[in-house]
Amino acid sequence: MPIIADAEKRLFTLHTKNTTYQMKADSLGTLLHVYYGERSDDSDKSYAICLRGRGFSGNPYEMGRDNKDYSLDVLPQEYSCYGTGDYRITALKVQNADGSLAAALRYKGYQVSKGKYSIPGLPAVYSEEKEADTLEIVLEDPASKVEVHLLYGVLYENDIITRAVKIVNGGPDGIVLQKAASMNLDWINGDYEWLTFYGGHVMERNIQRDELGHGIHAIGSVRGTSSHHYNPFAIVCERNADEERGRCYGFSFLYSGEFQMEAEKDQVSQTRLICGIHPDNFAWNLQPGEAFDTPEIMMTYSADGFGTLSRNLHRTIRENICRGEWKEKRRPVLINNWEATYFNFTGEQLVTIARNAAELGVELFVLDDGWFGKRDDDNSGLGDWFPNEKKLGCTLKELAERIVDCGLQFGLWFEPEGISEDSDLYREHPDWAVVIPGRNPNLSRNQLILDFSREDVQDYIIERMSAIFAETLISYVKWDFNRSICDKFSMALTAQSQGEFAHRYVLGLYRVLETLTAKFPHILFEGCSGGGGRFDAGMLYYTPQIWCSDNTDAIARLEIQYGTSFGYPVSTMGAHVSAVPNHQTRRIMPFSTRSCVAMAGTFGYELDATKLSEEEKAQVRQQISRFKEYYDLIQHGEYYRLLAPTDRQCTAWEMAEPAGKEALVSAVYHRVEGNAAPVIVKVQGLKAEANYRMHLNMDGLEDMPEEAKEWFMKCLPYGYKEGEMISGAALQQCGLVIPGAMEEYQAWQIHIVEA
Ligand code: DGJ
Repeated sequence: MPIIADAEKRLFTLHTKNTTYQMKADSLGTLLHVYYGERSDDSDKSYAICLRGRGFSGNPYEMGRDNKDYSLDVLPQEYSCYGTGDYRITALKVQNADGSLAAALRYKGYQVSKGKYSIPGLPAVYSEEKEADTLEIVLEDPASKVEVHLLYGVLYENDIITRAVKIVNGGPDGIVLQKAASMNLDWINGDYEWLTFYGGHVMERNIQRDELGHGIHAIGSVRGTSSHHYNPFAIVCERNADEERGRCYGFSFLYSGEFQMEAEKDQVSQTRLICGIHPDNFAWNLQPGEAFDTPEIMMTYSADGFGTLSRNLHRTIRENICRGEWKEKRRPVLINNWEATYFNFTGEQLVTIARNAAELGVELFVLDDGWFGKRDDDNSGLGDWFPNEKKLGCTLKELAERIVDCGLQFGLWFEPEGISEDSDLYREHPDWAVVIPGRNPNLSRNQLILDFSREDVQDYIIERMSAIFAETLISYVKWDFNRSICDKFSMALTAQSQGEFAHRYVLGLYRVLETLTAKFPHILFEGCSGGGGRFDAGMLYYTPQIWCSDNTDAIARLEIQYGTSFGYPVSTMGAHVSAVPNHQTRRIMPFSTRSCVAMAGTFGYELDATKLSEEEKAQVRQQISRFKEYYDLIQHGEYYRLLAPTDRQCTAWEMAEPAGKEALVSAVYHRVEGNAAPVIVKVQGLKAEANYRMHLNMDGLEDMPEEAKEWFMKCLPYGYKEGEMISGAALQQCGLVIPGAMEEYQAWQIHIVEA
């Protein structure tokens, strides 16, 4: 039984295949957090919570004068409140009608149901009814009658527990929620570290590992989006945890707006983690009878290090967050014209690129920025979603038809949330832009934001995009967003409601995405925000893939995709082969290396197909047919990080067929050494008793002189030549020898197949 509710003891135990979570309402009615970790039994573990008086940690009035040992300031709780005796970081901060900032939650009841709860207007993990269960625990602040419904979704097989909170104003007066986190998790002992994923534009999701020592540690975003700068995902772990060992907890927030993840180690060395909407730009009015739903957080626990933790999340994102036709369907190999032409193109040129690409096996042509309004650079035109027929030399419909005639599908770029001051839309509706009256707005890429918190704006965008989708043969949309939001203000909100703007904006965005994806299910939507500025599990509910970064340099991408892989599966990472010298770094890398790295993603091209040499064209054909051959392994396989970009020579990763019948190991020499030590990786996920043949993809040898190739073949390690086999046990325990590097940034792909 995944959920065991003992009504008498008020003890709640959640089990997944390998984990257990427990909480208990104590005599006062405080819902205590008892346990989260390895799979355990249903016994009451609250004996481990020791009550002991602590100076300056006060006691609730109801406990009477004799109980100085009971303090909310040190008790582990499921949902802590500001203002009533817990001085740590807290989950809920309520401003009552009298202006006081206080809430004290007491247990009221619970309900268990089959299936997984959903959240109105927000993304949430979903599943078949038989695959998940829901526990709802109701708490109440007796003084204000504010009710808090804690929702727990248990996905047994995936080792996933989700959490969300519904807050209902059951009192007679209006209140303001100043903070309403999605979760609170308290560990009663242990020393922890956390891994967070920081970055910036073209350098997203670098890993930082810090000790969670005494004090408050926080990451977050006040940029309107989840941001390039901190990803709404973190791992809390034991000090010695690594890829394969150690206890660790993953927290992924299904939210694309402003968030905060904070941790505090308290006076008795307990660690508390709080995750939710960032409170800085949040003040939500709740009138009597109204409810507020927080976004969802998904948690997983692994006793075997980060690899298992990531795979739990990957599986759940692929199967229980991504939706629609494109969840299962093979995604097309695309070519995008952005780095080929930027704003400077004609329709004729685009068709020529498309025709060339079609001959090489590309399946989808994506027309990026610059096809609409007055848009020859980034200073104008955003908001005017009307094709620039003069620039295209025909209607958009005709252009799409010409591309489809080349044998390709047609895709289109939009930045629906952007508005340029120099646009007809702005001239007509200046009040639709996000600016504070009487102040000059902050410009970024010379653009403003369209106020997606407004329903009329949402409807306008839905109508405009629907009209284009209806009249044009569109199979794919790239949904971009190229700035952070500041000057937060909506002309449609009252002064008292401006604190709702940031969250209402995200709700508006989700409404537009929900409507369009439901109306046009055949369209594949790819999220983007200047690359990976809104790469989060919330967006993946609407767009099953997201452009991972504007940095297309394959060596830089090793780090970006490595960091991203901790929280997200490769099937969600937009990755393209681009031209060299690379446009972001000027680095020159072999073609085969660029394709190897892009294959750890959705795979496509971002270059001018008309400029490829005959030799390169042959390589592209080969790469595409390989990608298709490996597709299932890449998109649906179990992902293993074998060597990190911080390794001395090589970054390596593996995708294994879940039953262990085959695997694809990819290795890129990010540093080439003379007299180098051999690189050996322990292949994972194979069957110990089976024998495997190794097929080495020789693309990396293509540009080599004949003597070099001969020498290479002579030095090939055992297992790569005709007829040689290695057992699964040997590959897992002793390892696979990666062939050496013949040049800088050499990449190898090794397909391991059961004999
Ligand atoms: C940022 C995106 O990430 C790029 O790929 C490209 O679409 C540009 N915007 C277009 O303005």
